[in-house]
Amino acid sequence: MRLLVVANRAPIRKTDTGWSPSIGGLATALLPVLEEQGGVWVSMGEEPSLPERQPYPADDPNFHVRRVSLTQETLDNYYYGMSNRVLWPLSHYMIEHMELNDAFYADYRDVNRRFADAVVEEAQAGDQVWVQDYHLMLAPAFIRTDWPEATIGHFWHIPWPAMEVFRIVPRARDLLRGMLGCDLIGFHVEEYVKNFIESAHVLLGAEVEGNIIHWEGREVRVETHPLGIDTARFQHMTDEEETQQAVQNLREETGTEHLVLGIDRMDYTKGILKRLLAFETFLEDHPEAHERVSFYQIATPSRTKLETYQQMKREVDEAVGRINGQYGTDTWVPVHYRYRKYTQRELCAFYNAANVCFITPLRDGMNLVAQEYVTSNTDGVLVLSELTGASYVLEEAVKVNPYDHNALADAIRAAIEMPRAERQRRLDRLKEATQRLDVHRWANRFLQAMDAVAAT
Ligand code: G6P
Repeated sequence: MRLLVVANRAPIRKTDTGWSPSIGGLATALLPVLEEQGGVWVSMGEEPSLPERQPYPADDPNFHVRRVSLTQETLDNYYYGMSNRVLWPLSHYMIEHMELNDAFYADYRDVNRRFADAVVEEAQAGDQVWVQDYHLMLAPAFIRTDWPEATIGHFWHIPWPAMEVFRIVPRARDLLRGMLGCDLIGFHVEEYVKNFIESAHVLLGAEVEGNIIHWEGREVRVETHPLGIDTARFQHMTDEEETQQAVQNLREETGTEHLVLGIDRMDYTKGILKRLLAFETFLEDHPEAHERVSFYQIATPSRTKLETYQQMKREVDEAVGRINGQYGTDTWVPVHYRYRKYTQRELCAFYNAANVCFITPLRDGMNLVAQEYVTSNTDGVLVLSELTGASYVLEEAVKVNPYDHNALADAIRAAIEMPRAERQRRLDRLKEATQRLDVHRWANRFLQAMDAVAAT
């Protein structure tokens, strides 16, 4: 049966040599399914020059991308506004970053309506619809109204906050009603499932039975489906000769016994600044670590149009300059900092070379960097914020509260001092857990759950 994927971003991108799959877990997981089963991927069209319908792969197409074209103003309100200045900070418990504006919601609703119209236009009997993430909360109910017998799933990739936090957003009930157009809603971890069910129960008075919400004469199942990475691909990329050469170069470049790594999108949820400040305190408290430990922070530019993201970058730039100015020597750079995009293959070299990966988001739906590190490294330590979805599934990480400055600084020390046997034991378990979460298995499990729903 065909699959209709509905996601803000398209799964393919233009390169010098033509069109290729986008980098990222979702495209990796779902393109093979679409190529096998056929179907459509409905996404936003940011550039008017791109075709509305694009068959893919071009030489032997078995599905097509359908673009919902957006004007600059609509994009600003729907994507930069409602999605990234309202729902993103809300879901990450960062209310201070929320900016409310009626035009954001109006265009968000309108774009969701247009995504739903595109789905209904493309639909063939028996198709299944799989909507992705917080950009498209209202689309499921719109689809349901026009196509009552549809099978609709939704996967929410970020945290679902506690009910008392979710209710802060104006129109919280309308947003929930939109989601309840689904038959199946998936979250990374049980905590978010509980929060969602409580939101529907308290704010809409919906009747709940276990993980089923009764809504408008239908059943909406709410399930845990933790997302993983393509583990085989990461292993393969790490083993390649080119990567191993890059690992050597990196070790020579940093020249220290210990390499602590941070990799994130430049986003205020990732806790990059607090992490740097903790490294600064670590250096202050541990003179014996000078010249022996260096920290490598890679920050990928993201949502750069937004002032909060620009401000955060300025703060990070400044902290890096201060730390290096204070502690750097002729032979040692304490903080290596790169603000740019790397290929996944290049990242594998960093994962492989670093003996500590220091992942300390202030809140994160899952965090796939943690899984990428575990997969590409052979005897390192994963230090992980307990406020991530990953911390629920990666039991053997060294867990830390990212708001606790002293605990962060201490975690760096504990990680570099960890005995080899313990490092190995933890990493082996972490690798097993990551294998179980593999993104292809994730997609299969969710699609099987959709089949089960469709059969009832
Ligand atoms: C998070 C969201 C994704 C989003 C990604 C990158 O992981 O869950 O839906 O695609 O961030 O953000 P961007 O705004 O560039 O798509």
